[in-house]
Amino acid sequence: MSLEAETASADKLRNAMVDGLRPWGAALSGQVDAAMRAVPRHMFVPDVPLERAYGPDPVVTHRDGDGVPVSSASAPGTVAGMLEKLDVRPGHRVLEIGAGTGYNAALLAHLVGPAGSVTTIEYDEAVASAARAALSGMGAAVTVVHGDGMLGAPGGPTFDRIVVTAGAWDIPKAWWEQLAEDGRLVVPLRILGLTRTVVFERAGAVLRSRSVMEDGFMPMRGVGAVREQNVPVGSGPALVVRLDDDRPVDASALQDALEHPAAVYWTGVAVPWGWTEHLDFWLATLEGFCRLLVSRAAVEDGRLMAPKGPWGSMGVVEGGTLAYLTTRPTPDSDAEMPSYEIGACGYGPRAAELAARLAERVRDWDRDGGQRVRLWIEAYLADAGHPELSGVLLAVDKRDSRVLVRLAEPAPAAA
Ligand SMILES: C[S@@+](CC[C@H](N)C(=O)[O-])C[C@H]1O[C@@H](n2cnc3c(N)ncnc32)[C@H](O)[C@@H]1O
Repeated sequence: MSLEAETASADKLRNAMVDGLRPWGAALSGQVDAAMRAVPRHMFVPDVPLERAYGPDPVVTHRDGDGVPVSSASAPGTVAGMLEKLDVRPGHRVLEIGAGTGYNAALLAHLVGPAGSVTTIEYDEAVASAARAALSGMGAAVTVVHGDGMLGAPGGPTFDRIVVTAGAWDIPKAWWEQLAEDGRLVVPLRILGLTRTVVFERAGAVLRSRSVMEDGFMPMRGVGAVREQNVPVGSGPALVVRLDDDRPVDASALQDALEHPAAVYWTGVAVPWGWTEHLDFWLATLEGFCRLLVSRAAVEDGRLMAPKGPWGSMGVVEGGTLAYLTTRPTPDSDAEMPSYEIGACGYGPRAAELAARLAERVRDWDRDGGQRVRLWIEAYLADAGHPELSGVLLAVDKRDSRVLVRLAEPAPAAA
């Protein structure tokens, strides 16, 4: 294909990509729409066909020695959604953590214009060099720094906006120091194993969320890496217990537990499509909270009950007992509007007790507003004294910051 033909084809695909974007259900604003139509995404992922570069999925660009993806161009919908929430204005100074391909940094440079500045930090040296080359090839004025973004921009100024494009376990001191007093921070934050993209606004010593959205991200590497544990249980394995800390897990006792039938509690709480807004935060208040990845084979051969989600469910593990959420269609469920009742199933010597505990938290969630629940998240520097804890659902101490999940008034019921 000639260069002209390739450019025309890329322009067409790019416009089609942007036409289809409605991140988190909302239309794009004029500025983000214009930036995404202007920046040639395919130049940042030169090794994939144009159709993939402008497709809806993330494009993995680097893997580690075990084949695990460590760098990518995030999905266009995720990129657009984060930019919308970041609310970048011309003249802003923006810091990005996780340069990856450099694509998002190029969009940021478009948004800040000639009066602003963009600095992006990348942990991986080879990734940083490739991003630098792609950005300079396009003439985008971006400073690419090779380093650990958890430590902030070396000698950097104060930034109006900080956007983090890898899953962070903490809000490190450096970001507090480098975020302007009224600045905005958009970060996929991991709270007890639950990753939520949180849009924070700073008001002095507190970061208060404007929105909390569920999305997946590659985990942060370096000093801020999460110590995730994945413990296989049973043959196959039948399931994997995923923990965000180093709690001991008795895999052989849990394997014995799976040999017995489940204790099941149905909650009477039914939800369309099985969607349960923020329910995981209610479960996260329970002792032994964790994620259980249940294998499809173990469900299909009848060893285990189907988990609530396609890959698993949040649940609890205590000693040789585990419990997780499951669902069943309600009698009035139909193909157009499927409806599912939530239940809890337990395996092991205390199966009934743990399943009942989980089921009770589902009912608590329902009483607090169910699908209409709204949360906000606050963060404080860990050494900034003790914030008010009334109305707090969860308080989680990180290394540098203290994160509080608070319950807001539920959204009004639909008419
Ligand atoms: C999903 S990719 C970023 C996508 C990117 N913003 C783009 O537009 O292509 C996440 C990136 O974060 C980087 N990363 C992980 N830990 C980091 C850290 N501690 N500091 C800086 N970058 C980090 C990874 O190497 C990876 O390139």
